[in-house]
Amino acid sequence: MTNSGKRKKTGSLKKWICAFVAGFAVAMLCFVVLNVAMEPVSKSDYCGGKCHEMNTAYQSWELSTHGANKYGFRAECVDCHLPPKEKYFRHVLAKGYEGGKDIYKHYLGGGYEVEEMRKGVLEKIPNERCLHCHDDLLAKPGSPGARTAHAEVLNPPRGAEFKCVECHENAGHERQTRLFSE
Ligand code: HEC
Ligand code: HEC
Ligand code: HEC
Repeated sequence: MTNSGKRKKTGSLKKWICAFVAGFAVAMLCFVVLNVAMEPVSKSDYCGGKCHEMNTAYQSWELSTHGANKYGFRAECVDCHLPPKEKYFRHVLAKGYEGGKDIYKHYLGGGYEVEEMRKGVLEKIPNERCLHCHDDLLAKPGSPGARTAHAEVLNPPRGAEFKCVECHENAGHERQTRLFSE
């Protein structure tokens, strides 16, 4: 091989490395920007406090066990309404989709039907969302009724027919009192 041939080869290798490093840097930058941008819009007071449509949801959440309990721990809106953060891409995609839909409805959609939305949500929330935190259901003393119900739910394949939110409809939002019925 001639000298100039060698130089050409190392030259193109260098170019390739530069392109790779630059590409990597851009990807990292996008990743950081996306996460920083997502931080404020992932908070419960943002999800529930910005638009009037969400007022009922926010206030009833604050009254529920998940909004306030003796442990001082709060299950945030995103914990129940989006795929877990560990499933990063599904989380981000669902967030973009749901957020976009909310914004569209807020500015361009017609009326907001709480009952219709409730039904939609009840169908959508999968058991894994709840089991993410409640993975010790059968280990707890609990009432005999709860133990029987949970043993059945956690027992595949028949268990798959039961949904947590069918029995625990008010888990995320205390609606019993109907303080906020419109
Ligand atoms: C423990 C799980 C859980 C948490 C935490 C939770 N939700 Fe929900 N959410 C549900 C379930 C279950 C339903 C359907 C049953 C119902 O509406 O009561 C629902 C229904 C809704 C609805 C449709 C009905 C309506 O009121 O418009 C909205 C909107 C909503 N949630 C927003 C939020 C917001 C905002 C937060 C945080 C401030 C939040 N949720 C926190 C489980 C949860
Ligand atoms: C981010 C964690 C988290 C998620 C997600 C979550 N929970 Fe909970 N849940 C808690 C904590 C913490 C408590 C309060 C402590 C306790 O009772 O174990 C609680 C309490 C409860 C209780 C007891 C209520 C009471 O009044 O004593 C029920 C029922 C319940 N959750 C059902 C659900 C259902 C159904 C879902 C899914 C829609 C869900 N949870 C999602 C953390 C979570
Ligand atoms: C067939 C109905 C039914 C289903 C489905 C169901 N539960 Fe329950 N659950 C109960 C009953 C009944 C209780 C006891 C209620 C009480 O004592 O107020 C209970 C109580 C609880 C409690 C309070 C702590 C305890 O063990 O007593 C938690 C947390 C809970 N359920 C979570 C869940 C989760 C998560 C799912 C889905 C995997 C689920 N449940 C599915 C009926 C059900």
